[in-house]
Amino acid sequence: MSATQHDFEVLSCGQAAQDVWHMSIHSEVAAELEPGQFVNIHVPGDGAHILRVPLSFSHADSKNGVVELYFAVVGEGTQRLAAMAPGDRSTLVGPCGVGWKLPARQGRALLVAGGIGLPPIVAAARMLVSAGIGFDAVVGAQTSDKHVEDLLDCLRTLCKDEGCDCARKVVLTTDNGTRGIAGFTTQAMEGLLAENPYACVYTCGPHPMMAGVAHLAKGSGIACQASLEAMMGCGFGACSCCNVALKGGGYALCCSDGPVFDAEEVAW
Ligand SMILES: Cc1cc2nc3c(=O)[nH]c(=O)nc-3n(C[C@H](O)[C@H](O)[C@H](O)COP(=O)(O)OP(=O)(O)OC[C@H]3O[C@@H](n4cnc5c(N)ncnc54)[C@H](O)[C@@H]3O)c2cc1C
Ligand code: FES
Repeated sequence: MSATQHDFEVLSCGQAAQDVWHMSIHSEVAAELEPGQFVNIHVPGDGAHILRVPLSFSHADSKNGVVELYFAVVGEGTQRLAAMAPGDRSTLVGPCGVGWKLPARQGRALLVAGGIGLPPIVAAARMLVSAGIGFDAVVGAQTSDKHVEDLLDCLRTLCKDEGCDCARKVVLTTDNGTRGIAGFTTQAMEGLLAENPYACVYTCGPHPMMAGVAHLAKGSGIACQASLEAMMGCGFGACSCCNVALKGGGYALCCSDGPVFDAEEVAW
């Protein structure tokens, strides 16, 4: 489905963790979104120096037309988004980009999320569980108050649906040790890789974290998909400002060839 402009209405908007907001929107785009794709949101107000804000989603409820967004407030665009109230309206362009693929190999998946990389990882978990594929997850944050509780609950509920021990299956880390394992997600990942024969890895988070995850997956001979971020202009392949360097030489466009890439293809 190609990206087109849609209206949306804010259903709710509130803080979900330190510096992270949760916004539920109503839009007909919900029926077209595939897990791992993104929407490009027009924030109301003076548009002179603000481009659309590209955001992934954790869930698109096609029946009720609801899309769940979680975003970190980092600059003027996301500040303005966070200030939107129920009933406020704007437009978005979507569905944008290429999302997650189901694994080629049968077997359990390992999901690794860092910081605000968690929303598309929750979308990946839904996709996997719908296809009858079980998963374990590592979710990292800098500090305990940056963990997004709603999204952790989503992951645990998906684990429960799968009928497994969710406390063991969703492993938390914090950089400063205030919750879960002290250290980076890659350290927790190494432990899980040593104990489990995973068929595939899905990751989204800070670029250095994904580079580490891709390296560990490759070392274990496991296919890895990574959802990348790049500064974006148009969001649909027209301005060439979202280049991703490829291992084999040349560049791909994050907005239209990605944001999800086979980690093997990326020049980390
Ligand atoms: C495909 C895609 C999906 C995304 N999904 C999410 C999401 O689900 N939740 C979320 O919180 N954020 C997500 N982002 C990042 C989000 O789009 C940016 O944080 C946002 O556009 C910043 O806008 P701003 O006007 O608030 O900040 P700006 O004033 O534009 O920038 C503030 C700071 O953020 C950095 N920044 C801005 N845009 C990006 C970007 N695209 N990638 C990396 N750094 C950036 C700038 O370098 C600057 O340091 C996604 C980005 C992409 C490309
Ligand atoms: S943002 Fe314009 S080509 Fe990707």
